[in-house]
Amino acid sequence: MSKSVTLTDKATGKDYNFPVLSGSVGPDVIDVRKLYTDTGFFTYDPGYTSTGACKSAITYIDGDQGILLHRGYAIEDLAEKSDFMEVAYLILKGELPNGEQKKQFDRDITLHTMLHEQINRFFSGFRRDAHPMAVMCGVVGALSAFYHDSLDIADPHQRMIASYRLIAKMPTIAAMAYKYSIGQPFMYPQNNLPYADNFLQMTFGVPCEPYKVNPVLAKAMDRIFILHADHEQNASTSTVRLSGSSGANPFACIAAGIATLWGPAHGGANEAVLKMLAEIGHKDRIPEFIKRVKDKNEGVRLMGFGHRVYKNYDPRAKVMAKTCQEVLGELGIKNDPLLDIAVELERIALQDEYFVSKKLYPNVDFYSGIILKAMGFPTAMFTALFALARTVGWIAQWNEMIEDPEQKIGRPRQLYTGPAHRPFVPLDKRA
Ligand code: ACO
Repeated sequence: MSKSVTLTDKATGKDYNFPVLSGSVGPDVIDVRKLYTDTGFFTYDPGYTSTGACKSAITYIDGDQGILLHRGYAIEDLAEKSDFMEVAYLILKGELPNGEQKKQFDRDITLHTMLHEQINRFFSGFRRDAHPMAVMCGVVGALSAFYHDSLDIADPHQRMIASYRLIAKMPTIAAMAYKYSIGQPFMYPQNNLPYADNFLQMTFGVPCEPYKVNPVLAKAMDRIFILHADHEQNASTSTVRLSGSSGANPFACIAAGIATLWGPAHGGANEAVLKMLAEIGHKDRIPEFIKRVKDKNEGVRLMGFGHRVYKNYDPRAKVMAKTCQEVLGELGIKNDPLLDIAVELERIALQDEYFVSKKLYPNVDFYSGIILKAMGFPTAMFTALFALARTVGWIAQWNEMIEDPEQKIGRPRQLYTGPAHRPFVPLDKRA
């Protein structure tokens, strides 16, 4: 029997029935599409805490259990047994590739790693001290001015070319944003290198000497990309979908996603974590800091803790903590003061009634900043790396939205609280 719920308007005594839809796993949803036409009411849900805006078969999160699945595969398995290109294929196409498909995909992506030479000149329009996210927003948006042959979003082939281009070019753009900020020449991609290795080469290599990729660091980089590849309908992904719902081109939509990711409540958090750890400065000052976090008047948050969906340990944070130990071990960093503070902060917070009762656990950003700093990335680049990896999720969700027969332009409603209609007062009659 199909499920439904009944809404009773107590003022009129009228009952309204709404169908309940079930996904493959996870909570059922009430289909309120006819709510306004049937009842004259809208729903009010700022922050969309109770609103599902689309159907999606890409990523599943059970926030209470701390589960994250991409196309049904657990993030822990993907991080341990797969590589970023394979995960990108999975997220984009729905299945893990076989050997032949993987080889072809790797090849297809590497074919698109270079930028149009004219885009290189685009960079010199930015100030050297521009934030890499500002540069990425601008340059990714500008891709739509260069690749006209992949802008027809009604053509599945063009959509796929645009998707490949974005996945392939993001490391090149992110590395160039970094090189530009430090005044070093841009490094061209080397298509004989795997994706993460190539990114490290473009970021840390220089044209005057050979760059040898450290395999432990390349593996860690690849894993960090996997952990950030997609995360369901978060703020930046929803932005990409909303922008795309108007028929905007994919490069412009991804630029909108980058803008949203930049905020400290979203992708900017790993940068904020490092700033916070540096401000705390020493383990002895943690209790004083925790006291400030718990005092609402102070307006201080424990960055890297808490999540809209996870009310348990973020499964990505566990993998990240392990990767952090591996990277610091490889680099021979025995006593990293920031890591010491982070470990102690986590230990104290996980026992503290404030954090326990609010179900605040470490999220993916808590340890990622420490790893990236140890690898040599400046803090301003952290969110740029997140954007690079999340491009896979954004573009897969954008494709899914366009292929969805139920897709409509996104258009939320509002609870209007301004003045009702009033007569216009001419300027000379106003008080
Ligand atoms: N430190 C202290 N208190 C917190 C924190 C935190 N990090 N996060 C939430 N709380 C408290 C809030 O003060 C609130 O308390 P109250 O009920 O007494 O008012 C309660 O927990 C619920 O918090 P909300 O802000 O309503 O939760 P929301 O789901 O809107 O926010 C968010 C989630 C933005 C991630 C929040 O936890 C936060 O600001 N965390 C720090 C920033 C961060 O690490 N962001 C990265 C998120 S992961 C990502 O984007 C990759």
